[in-house]
Amino acid sequence: MIPTPPPPHRLPHAPAPVSRQDEPGTADRPPGPGFWAVTRHADALRVLQDPATYSSLPGPGELPLLTRLLSHQDPPQHTRLRDHAARALTPGRVERFTATARERARTLLTRALDTARATGGVLDLATAVSHPYTSLNLADLLGIPHADRRRLPGWTGPHALEDTTGYARHLIVHRRRYPDDDLTTVLAHNARLTSDELEMLVPLLLTTGLAPMHDAAAGGLALLAEHPEAYGKLRDGTAELAPAIEELLRLHPPLLTVRRTAATDTELSGHRIRRGDKVVVCLPAAHHDEQVFTAPDRLDLARTPNPHLSLGAGPHLCLGADFARLQLRVLYEEVLRALPELRLAGPLPPTGSGVTNGVGSLPVRAG
Ligand code: HEM
Repeated sequence: MIPTPPPPHRLPHAPAPVSRQDEPGTADRPPGPGFWAVTRHADALRVLQDPATYSSLPGPGELPLLTRLLSHQDPPQHTRLRDHAARALTPGRVERFTATARERARTLLTRALDTARATGGVLDLATAVSHPYTSLNLADLLGIPHADRRRLPGWTGPHALEDTTGYARHLIVHRRRYPDDDLTTVLAHNARLTSDELEMLVPLLLTTGLAPMHDAAAGGLALLAEHPEAYGKLRDGTAELAPAIEELLRLHPPLLTVRRTAATDTELSGHRIRRGDKVVVCLPAAHHDEQVFTAPDRLDLARTPNPHLSLGAGPHLCLGADFARLQLRVLYEEVLRALPELRLAGPLPPTGSGVTNGVGSLPVRAG
């Protein structure tokens, strides 16, 4: 076990496992009514696994556009749509992307290392490798034609959903005409999905699959760069990659919070929660719950079991979880092969906006 400093994102600094938090306005958002912050692992599970009490329907102040989304629906509507999407995202289909992902990771790393060696020895693993790697993998999964891929970087911002909805319509028409081995083709040929449902699912996959995947890949590499001993253990095989991936996801959850709205009056850890109240599960805090994780501040590459919630829990568990794990495994394997040491070339810029846990830049030495 390797000591690590306390994580910067134990949000919020709550006095109790369940506490009432204010919601002051920001530059782009008016003040809100406040919310219940849930910081204990057991309470987080209680919220995420009980959609009848804690609804995913958009609450007051959320974009009306969200109402249509699978991620913002409750059973039974949610169950039917999710089954269709999950059947298209079978482990077999996901596994078929392994070779392409590996080739891509190798090419990006070789190119970035060659450029770094010719220009002073520093490469930015986030902008030169992990960001393009995860974006292009998602483009493959969804069957986005090569000519359209330059648009991907624009689809991670706050208006990503609006921006991708028009494009998704075009992509669906394209894949109906030119079917291929990708998710859009499968969904577009599923006669049981209405065109509204289809035009919701494709942009949802595009937007939910992009930013957290960037942040997981770069965040995991940043943690390894901060822990050279851990990197060495993975390289010489004294630590295994599969549990290490889970531990990196625990210590760097790409999404910091998951939101629900109370559908009925209820009680959580002694607090009366009223119908309509906003309830926010704080993942970094739940991931440091000492009742569940021994020495939670430590990066323990072999931590087992590791019931982190970075990919969610309950009926909304991340649909792209297999694809996410595959991408992380292949990327880390290729970085471990290419770089004998992962040495930071400077301090990491601050991460996280309070909602996401982004790593915009990861400067490391080319070795
Ligand atoms: C490491 C990367 C990823 C992380 C950390 C992540 C995280 C999450 C989390 C926490 C949820 C649950 C949200 C909730 O309960 O409200 C979720 C749901 C979802 N994720 Fe991911 N995700 C990742 C990658 C992906 C990828 C690559 C895709 C697409 C291929 C994807 C598609 C989805 C979808 C469609 C949902 C909604 C599922 C539902 O509501 O039933 N995610 N993700």
